[in-house]
Amino acid sequence: MDRIRIRGGNRLNGTINISGAKNAALPLMIVSLLTPETLTLNNVPRLADVRLLQRILQNHGVDIMIAGKRPGQNGQSGDVKQLSARTIADTTAPYELVSKMRASFWVLGPLLARCGEAKVSLPGGCAIGTRPVDMHLQAMEKLGAEIAIEAGYVVAKARNGLRGNRIVFDKVSVGATHAALMAAVLAQGETVIENAAREPEIGDVAQCLVKMGARIDGIHSPTLRISGVTSLHGAEHTVIADRIETGTYAMCAGMTGGDVMLRGARSDTLGSVIDVMRKAGIAVDETNEGLRVQRNGRALEPVSVATAPFPGFPTDCQAQLMALMTMADGTSTIRETIFENRFMHVQELARLGADIHLNGDTAEVRGVRKLTGAPVMATDLRASVSLVIAALAAEGETMLNRVYHLDRGFETLEDKLAACGADVARLSGN
Ligand code: EPU
Repeated sequence: MDRIRIRGGNRLNGTINISGAKNAALPLMIVSLLTPETLTLNNVPRLADVRLLQRILQNHGVDIMIAGKRPGQNGQSGDVKQLSARTIADTTAPYELVSKMRASFWVLGPLLARCGEAKVSLPGGCAIGTRPVDMHLQAMEKLGAEIAIEAGYVVAKARNGLRGNRIVFDKVSVGATHAALMAAVLAQGETVIENAAREPEIGDVAQCLVKMGARIDGIHSPTLRISGVTSLHGAEHTVIADRIETGTYAMCAGMTGGDVMLRGARSDTLGSVIDVMRKAGIAVDETNEGLRVQRNGRALEPVSVATAPFPGFPTDCQAQLMALMTMADGTSTIRETIFENRFMHVQELARLGADIHLNGDTAEVRGVRKLTGAPVMATDLRASVSLVIAALAAEGETMLNRVYHLDRGFETLEDKLAACGADVARLSGN
């Protein structure tokens, strides 16, 4: 297994290209199941989760090609993927694949809409919370599907096709909104989804569906109105920039001090992250190229933050903010409201010298003057990268184990940081 070695203390200066968003690329790839024609996706990040989803889609019969690079392309703009689901060869998504990545459960909606049936494994346990799929199933039932759970699988049938309906979600769910939207575009009649998630990745998927011939009103709002069509056609779409990667590198720069241009980053997708960064004493400025993040000499100020659905502070940046606040000039409070067990980084940050106290869903982070390098490991993607942030400012050497978590969601992280002056290297496991 690879490890990442970080020797802390260097300021970051330079430019980081922001990749396409993992959490948009995954549902966009799944959208390909909805049409027999080719969906071309640009700016697809090169990530372990993307490769895994590719295997899952290939199992359903999707033909996937990576288009060749044109001269002058420097490999920093992601892959161009062409996905063609001419026929669906298999409507079963097996446990061996779904259990490795929860988002693959989202094939349920498109398979049902296109084929009238689907058998998808329940995803199983997760390191950050229980993460049930009840809202996904309720949405499919509202659209007329019959659902049964058999031997760990969701078996869904809609023999006469799905029918539009009013779906009112009790709470905001990104995945359930994706599922309902992807199914409703091919359902007969009108569907209204209320209390829909407004995360920018939902908007990106909706805009791609519109290019494919779907009729959707209210994109980016909590109420989506969909008029079903009988078929969708091929299209070309570019995956939006990754807002979580943007927030993460902004916090890296804030932690070490320095001046970093996050090329391609979009402030309109960041919600309250920019406000929180500014409150913490970090300058964030929008330019034609992207977002410029600087902290030159100013102290890090403590902040009080609760995670919330978009445009609130994203749970996917909570661990990174906590790492940043370990060196703030005072005490911060960070409340996690989305997932009940997303504090696995606390004990690892403590190994680097952080002073964090947990009380239920709230962490009290008392800023310390110094962190010290140590061997650490993490149990999920965002927790892993929070340890990178802390390590960049820690004295001495930090060895980050279980790097495969990072590789699920951060494209060439060590190269991007090293190009800005960080002392970071990947050590091969062999
Ligand atoms: N929930 C239910 N029932 C459901 C679905 C969700 O109770 O049927 C609950 C969840 O347990 C959670 C809350 O609703 O408490 C919100 O979960 P949501 O469905 O929004 O999460 P998700 O769709 O499973 C996506 C991202 C996560 C991100 C969350 C929240 C992708 C592939 N995953 O997950 O990203 O944390 O939204 O924004 O888009 C990550 O990238 O590291 C990651 C975990």
